[in-house]
Amino acid sequence: MKIFLIGFMGSGKTSVGKKLAKYLDIEFVDLDHFIEAQAGMSINAIFDGQGEQTFRNLEKDALKKLSGKENAVIATGGGTPCFEDNMNFLNEHGLTIYLKLEPGALFERLVNAKTDRPLLKNLNDQELKDYLEKKLAERSRIYDLAQHTVEAAHITNAVKSIHRLLKR
Ligand code: S3P
Repeated sequence: MKIFLIGFMGSGKTSVGKKLAKYLDIEFVDLDHFIEAQAGMSINAIFDGQGEQTFRNLEKDALKKLSGKENAVIATGGGTPCFEDNMNFLNEHGLTIYLKLEPGALFERLVNAKTDRPLLKNLNDQELKDYLEKKLAERSRIYDLAQHTVEAAHITNAVKSIHRLLKR
């Protein structure tokens, strides 16, 4: 079984993914970490040195490589489904689950977790709030194409909800 977790930055894709993979006893892969390992540099360094478009190309390549796995829980990046035909690709190659969270809750999680995120690191609090409202509205049209949506305010509850839907 291959599961792709999608959702905005801060929605808990990595935390939920690790727990879920442990429960299912299959491999966990974080797409951002995979890209960093392949590129030999951090996401910040890729954005700073080569720009977002290069990152998106690397992201697409990484997705293709990982889609060959038989069994894995894969935490995608917040923007992964939103570029080119990546969302269709994800839906065709595995089970897609959207971890959904309101902008206010995302703000609480992200306000102190901006430094490793190139799209957020230079925003002040008000700019971050505005960015989250605007970007989430744009991206949720894509995220809503996931096969399942799970409320992600609490990590443990989100994992339980996914267990339940996998048993159906
Ligand atoms: C991004 C989200 C990040 C990372 C990159 C771009 C985005 O992943 O891929 O900084 O466009 O939303 P996380 O969602 O794991 O923070």
